[in-house]
Amino acid sequence: MSVRRLAPDPVQPKSFAFTKENAAWAKTVISKFPPGRQASAVIALLWRAQEQHDYWLPKAAIETVGEMLEMPTIRVLEIATFYSMFNLAPVGQHFVQVCGTTPCRLRGAEKIIGICRKEIGEERHVSDDGAFAWLEVECLGACCNAPMVQINNDFYEDLDEENFTRLLSDLRAGKPVRKGSQTGRSASEPARDRKTLQDGALYDGSAIGGWTKAFADRVKRAEAARKAAAEAAAPPPTAAPSPAAEAKPARASKTPGNGSAK
Ligand code: FES
Repeated sequence: MSVRRLAPDPVQPKSFAFTKENAAWAKTVISKFPPGRQASAVIALLWRAQEQHDYWLPKAAIETVGEMLEMPTIRVLEIATFYSMFNLAPVGQHFVQVCGTTPCRLRGAEKIIGICRKEIGEERHVSDDGAFAWLEVECLGACCNAPMVQINNDFYEDLDEENFTRLLSDLRAGKPVRKGSQTGRSASEPARDRKTLQDGALYDGSAIGGWTKAFADRVKRAEAARKAAAEAAAPPPTAAPSPAAEAKPARASKTPGNGSAK
């Protein structure tokens, strides 16, 4: 739990308006809800406002969203202050959210937090150059690649002191950085001695639909086996007498005692 307040007045912009594209997008989102239920779009609109406004929500944006949805400002404010995904104050150019939950903690999150303090400053404060702010958060769902951080919309995983320091320095210098694992893992496979997922076709998308074919083949094979078994179990067909045999008169039997007496 933390106290969440709006940023102080000196940093608040006087007004906020969605860009033309975002306003059109907002209109579409609002139209998805039945009349009288426009308030259901509030989180989507706040999120878009935050993205548009350097990743934080000024008071003017909260008021604008309230007007668009015909909601009292206090209702929108309740939502914006409740969800920690909404930033109520500037977060710098790169907003670092450090996972501090158990798996990341066991794998070195403490050291990552230490580097944030050293390189950026205190939590929830924008660095002097405006490049960074950081915040400790709960599990971000990438525990297999712990420890990890989210920077703006991207995850950076398999961190250690060296690669995380380099990552911050590259971001600060505007250099391109590698997203995801910083040690070269392509996903969350074992870090070494990998014995599974060796066939790229299993997870690169090329096998999509493969299981459908395998299933259809299996059904076909089962059907053929059932048919063969049914044929094998059926009694052999009785041979129909040939027409020639039917036309021939029966020959007298030569069996002794079976002929007529002389
Ligand atoms: S514990 Fe850190 S991502 Fe889940």
